[in-house]
Amino acid sequence: MKKITLIPGDGIGPEIANSVVKIIKASGLDIDWDIQTAGSDVVESEGEPLPTRVLDSIKQNKVALKAPVTTPIGNGFRSVNVALRKELDLYANLRPCKNLPNVKTKFDNVDIIVVRENTEDLYAGIERRIDNDTAESIKIITRGASTKIAEFAFDYALKNSRNEVCAVSKANICKLTDGLFLESVREVSKKYPQIKYKEILVDNLCMQLVQDPSRFDVLLLPNLYGDIVSDLCAGLIGGLGVAQGANIGKDCAVFEAVHGSAPDIAGQDKANPTALLLSAVEMLKHINEHSYAEKIDAALARALGGKILTADLGGNAKCSEFTDEVIKYL
Ligand code: NAI
Repeated sequence: MKKITLIPGDGIGPEIANSVVKIIKASGLDIDWDIQTAGSDVVESEGEPLPTRVLDSIKQNKVALKAPVTTPIGNGFRSVNVALRKELDLYANLRPCKNLPNVKTKFDNVDIIVVRENTEDLYAGIERRIDNDTAESIKIITRGASTKIAEFAFDYALKNSRNEVCAVSKANICKLTDGLFLESVREVSKKYPQIKYKEILVDNLCMQLVQDPSRFDVLLLPNLYGDIVSDLCAGLIGGLGVAQGANIGKDCAVFEAVHGSAPDIAGQDKANPTALLLSAVEMLKHINEHSYAEKIDAALARALGGKILTADLGGNAKCSEFTDEVIKYL
């Protein structure tokens, strides 16, 4: 039986993780879930939000499914999500944004792959308060990380029959940092003559995405712009409740939804488990369980076409009721 690390997270995390585990079990696939807690509760009991046991479990199992973990705003411990990506060198954040069958949205032709660099940029967390009225944060961009993520994006484009990679920056303002990012990507692009390469400034990209998302194919972004633009793209396909993601490194992969722990609806059985379920479907493909992945995908599509939907998709069903609906179609 395949052993996979499961981080149930907090906020809506445990509710949606429970839903996904139930659906995978109902599909007939047996997984030995290695449950590893992380986050604020763990700080209280173990003194740190991301104990080494969590990292060791992922290193051993190579694959993890992770529900969201809350990060305190302004002060408190550093993001578990950022630390996990850095510790395991999960350098590529892959966020496919494609219209889902039966989910009505403003555009019906969205098919964008967001590739976000996952280890540096302003997320390096190098900040300091210079004096009472001034603070600074250091934006780190390296040729190594930029080249690695560019190679990932072009390889992905090639293997998945995509036509174009568009590098996103603000190199008109951040001339040195974003300039180095672009310089590195341009170099990589030369090795992929089959894939069209273009560049765009992030502000212009946001405007064009909400006007006509069909103009874009694979978007390649440094960490911060990638974080923001992938939420924008999630909005194009029905919101955070349906947007999937994966963090991929050389040795391990951690699959997780784009959204966070949604404290506003936590503990109320209201969350949409679709985003985490789609991330889990990608995880099943990653471990070569294609038939179960297809089975769950088909059942989800049928459930999304029905009337038992969570509030974010215009219904009034609970997370648990939607889960039962997906299971009904399996
Ligand atoms: P959020 O993504 O948790 O929520 C934004 C809005 O989307 C809220 O109105 C929420 O109710 C809604 N939403 C999110 N997921 C949903 C779902 N599955 N079904 C229905 N509605 C859903 O973003 P927010 O509020 O900015 O962040 C909350 C916490 O999550 C913060 O501590 C943040 O640091 C953390 N976070 C964690 C992430 C992770 O674990 N990978 C990623 C993003 C944020």
